[in-house]
This record gives sequence, structure tokens and C-alpha cells, in this order.
Amino acid sequence: VTGPDLAGRHVVVSAGGTREPLDPVRFLGNRSSGKQGYALARTAAARGARVTLISANTGLPDPAGVDVVRVGTAVQLREAVLKAAADADAVVMAAAVADFRPAAYATGKIKKKDGQEPDPIVLVRNPDILAEISADRARPGQVIVGFAAETDDVLANGRTKLARKGCDLLVVNEVGERKTFGAEENEAVVLGADGSETPVPHGPKEALADTVWDLVVRRLG
Ligand code: C5P
Repeated sequence: VTGPDLAGRHVVVSAGGTREPLDPVRFLGNRSSGKQGYALARTAAARGARVTLISANTGLPDPAGVDVVRVGTAVQLREAVLKAAADADAVVMAAAVADFRPAAYATGKIKKKDGQEPDPIVLVRNPDILAEISADRARPGQVIVGFAAETDDVLANGRTKLARKGCDLLVVNEVGERKTFGAEENEAVVLGADGSETPVPHGPKEALADTVWDLVVRRLG
């Protein structure tokens, strides 16, 4: 650990993946484990920060010394992030937020009807929380970090996404077939809105988390 360089700071981290319900028993979801977000929360607490961890559907135990807010959907995640970000020095959006949700919610379990094809699932867009909080900062100087997984042209696509989202830092993970079969490659590049490029070699999620906080601390001044 680097030292208590986040003492007196409030940081908000989102983790996990949202679930968008179709009916009381079914949802559209994703495979995010929440481990990277929890590593960010733990390392920030170890560096002295007050941490609000907004956790979407993770099976992980609450980290010690961290305020945990549990949410389910993207809309609930947005509410929790906006509330916590109001007095935050930094916000890190590590959660995998569903881009779309079912347009309709069936209050009773959807049933199959004999001899009939199923109804199509109609989707509507979810709010882009990262873009929203970046465009409308709750505090001057608040540092905002996003995550992105890219399969090709990682740096170019990352740059485009960073500009589109309007955040200060974007952690870009390369995913896909070029990365060898079965191997859990976890290397990333952290792109800065100032043009900086910080490669993070393959390693534990804590190491990436500490690099993110190093870059945040530098921007907090
Ligand atoms: O656009 P894309 O989903 O690749 O962007 C990923 C980043 O944007 C992540 O930091 C994620 O938490 C955030 N995001 C968001 N709201 C959405 C979709 C993504 O805040 N609706």
C-alpha cells in the first residue's frame, strides 16, 4: 500500500452487473463478478478513503470499513450513484451496466401458450450513467473513471469512448480471441483525457486498482 493518500476523501465505486427484470423470476443480465470493483473499494479504504460501494448483484461479502449499497437494475444503480456522487471526490464506474432493459415488465410470470410462438422481447435504452455524471459534475474537480472492454483497435476505440463518455480516465481491457484460449488475461491500459496512456501488466485486480487510485490521486492534486 502506498500510504493514506486518500485520507479525507470520499470515493464512490460501482461494481457487479445490473439485472433487468422481465417478470418476477426472470431477468437480462451479464457475467460480471464484481471482483474488480470490490478490489477498488478495498484498496481505496486501505489508502484512507471513505468508500461507498454500489454493488449490483454480486455474491461477494461486504468489505470491512466500506459503506455498501445494494442495487439490482441500471435505473436503481443510477439513483444510488447520483446520490453518493453528490459529495464525492472521485467516482469509479466498474459495474457492467446493461445498455438496454425490457420495455415491459410482466407482474406475473410469463407463461408459454400451447401451439404459439413466444412474444418477442422489446428493449429500450438505459440511461448512460457514466456519460451523465461526467457531463454534469456534482463537484468541480471531481475525478470520474470508466471501464471499457474492447476486442480490437483497443487504443483507438478506447480514445473514442473516453471522448464520448467525457470522463477523466478510462480503463480499457483487451478481451477476445487474440488473447489465448482459457487464459485469464487481465492486462489493461488506462487512458487519460489529458492524452496520457498508462499500461498495466497482467496481474491481480488489486494491482490495477492501485494504479487507478494513483492516477486519481494525481488528478485530485
Ligand atoms: O459504453 P460501454 O458500456 O462500453 O461503457 C462502459 C462504461 O460505461 C463502464 O464504466 C460502465 O460502468 C459505464 N456505463 C454506464 N451506464 C450505462 C452503460 C455503461 O455508466 N448505461
